[in-house]
Amino acid sequence: MKVILLGPPGAGKGTQAARIADKLQVTRAASGDLFRDNIRNCTELGKLAKSYMDRGVLVPDDVTIRLIMGWLDAPEQAKGFVLDGFPRTVGQAEALDKGLSDKGGIDLALYIDVPKAESVRRLAGRYICRNCQRPYHETVSPPAKQGVCDKCGGEVYQRDDDRPEVVGRRLEVFFEETKPVVDYYRGLGKLKEINGEGSIEDVGNALVAALE
Ligand code: AP5
Ligand code: MG
Ligand code: ZN
Repeated sequence: MKVILLGPPGAGKGTQAARIADKLQVTRAASGDLFRDNIRNCTELGKLAKSYMDRGVLVPDDVTIRLIMGWLDAPEQAKGFVLDGFPRTVGQAEALDKGLSDKGGIDLALYIDVPKAESVRRLAGRYICRNCQRPYHETVSPPAKQGVCDKCGGEVYQRDDDRPEVVGRRLEVFFEETKPVVDYYRGLGKLKEINGEGSIEDVGNALVAALE
């Protein structure tokens, strides 16, 4: 099963991706996580990506498509995958379709919808693990020990692009560039919409139900 997760910043894509991948027993990748790994490792790609991410705008399509299509080429992804944060432009969606054309494209696009005000509230309290990038929230889902990741013991920190002024820009970019991707998959009959406003548990259950 080949699944993509769509949704505005803070919708819960990263929170839910692991659960969906476990359920389907497939691998997963998040384009944002791959860029942040590159920033942490001081690669050329990381330097380039940071110059866009810090402003809340998208990394250019050619760079992003090369990164994700490279990941998809690995044999582990042959039995399916969950993608979080890609595709984010119609150009990326078309490239993904083209790359998967011999396999009939993706099977399902899950769109987690939350209102803007909820995105803003969630990102204001979000922290992620520097090592494994698992998301936490200071009140909704804090780590058991403050500042330390439950899963890997890594340091938990606030993302640079979660500053309020950058969040506003990321939301604008979502509506301008990524909302058309939602319509693109709706047109292909591959879209399922999930209300992302419930608890983490409720949204997870709704996503699992949509997969069945
Ligand atoms: P990326 O890292 O993908 O950021 P994003 O899409 O803005 O999404 P987020 O990670 O902010 O939100 P999420 O939906 O994962 O929410 P989470 O689960 O953490 O991209 C960052 C940047 O990288 C982009 O701006 C761009 O520059 C670049 N980039 C990435 N992909 C690209 C691409 N394809 N093309 C070009 N550029 C690209 O949850 C958020 C918070 O809410 C957490 O604190 C969580 O605990 C909490 N929470 C989750 N669910 C609930 C719930 N149900 N109730 C209450 N709280 C909840
Ligand atoms: Mg995320
Ligand atoms: Zn961790």
